[in-house]
Amino acid sequence: KTTATGKSHAKVIFLGEHSAVYQQPAIVFPVPQATVTATIKTTNAPVSSITSEYYTGPVSELPPRMAGVATLLHHLQHQLNPQSIPTHLTLHSTIPLGRGMGSSAAIASAITQAYFALFETPLPRETLTAYTDIEEHITHGNPSGIDAQTVNVAHPILFEEQQFIDFQPPLTGFLVIADTGLASDTKTAVQQVHQFLTADQQRQDLILQLGKLTERVKQELQQQDLLATGHSLTAAQTILRALGVSTPQIDQLVTAAHAAGALGAKLTGSGLGGCIIALTETRAAAQTVAKALTEHGATQTWIQSLHELNPQ
Ligand code: MEV
Repeated sequence: KTTATGKSHAKVIFLGEHSAVYQQPAIVFPVPQATVTATIKTTNAPVSSITSEYYTGPVSELPPRMAGVATLLHHLQHQLNPQSIPTHLTLHSTIPLGRGMGSSAAIASAITQAYFALFETPLPRETLTAYTDIEEHITHGNPSGIDAQTVNVAHPILFEEQQFIDFQPPLTGFLVIADTGLASDTKTAVQQVHQFLTADQQRQDLILQLGKLTERVKQELQQQDLLATGHSLTAAQTILRALGVSTPQIDQLVTAAHAAGALGAKLTGSGLGGCIIALTETRAAAQTVAKALTEHGATQTWIQSLHELNPQ
């Protein structure tokens, strides 16, 4: 083979960010409409190179902020291309960077798939996750490993007792995802929460409350109770705000989502920037909420039909 492609998609944490770092459960949804495509070709050029929105040039000169990708490529090269045949890699992403939508994991997954396809090597799901995790450990410190798991599957994932379980309740409703336009840094947010919790033992209770809410939402989704699910999402936002990871921009979007008729809304991912999610029953309601969020400063919105995440 002289050319191959790999494709991956975004994710959002429905519920359980931050508490997942403390052994509490989390529910994560894929966002198949926001994708990364990696195309790899063998070339006659003397060295391997990369073309992307973030960097274009030789692989050997990848900037420090792409250290995760550099390490991943090093591992892939070593494993699959020991003769160091020069390659050219092109990345195309519609997932905004650093917004809690799993962009870095999706990039790593797409690259891994393309590389394995080019060298015609079978790629089981566990191997794909393991390679994605190589990049994630460097980029995020990766306390829970949620992103590497979810960007590779088309259905929700339940993270429970340190296990990743395929979670397929009969989903209905719509999820609006809205970007504050501000990047958030997972490592910083996780550290900040850690400091907040260690300053006062009683604050640990907030983490347990988030864990209980996630358990409750698991039941509510199974019972197709969208109204209750929405209430639980909003309750989680109150706790995440108490943990210190909300921001004025996030609060403004959450308030706007409620005013426009959302059943519930919260930040998603690490907070301190990034995206919010809002739940609605119908597509029309989702469109109304998305419009209101754009009017209140969201730089981009997505509407994800939850029904489309059900097994076909
Ligand atoms: C970040 O997307 C989610 C956090 O819970 C960190 C993690 O689970 O690795 C904040």
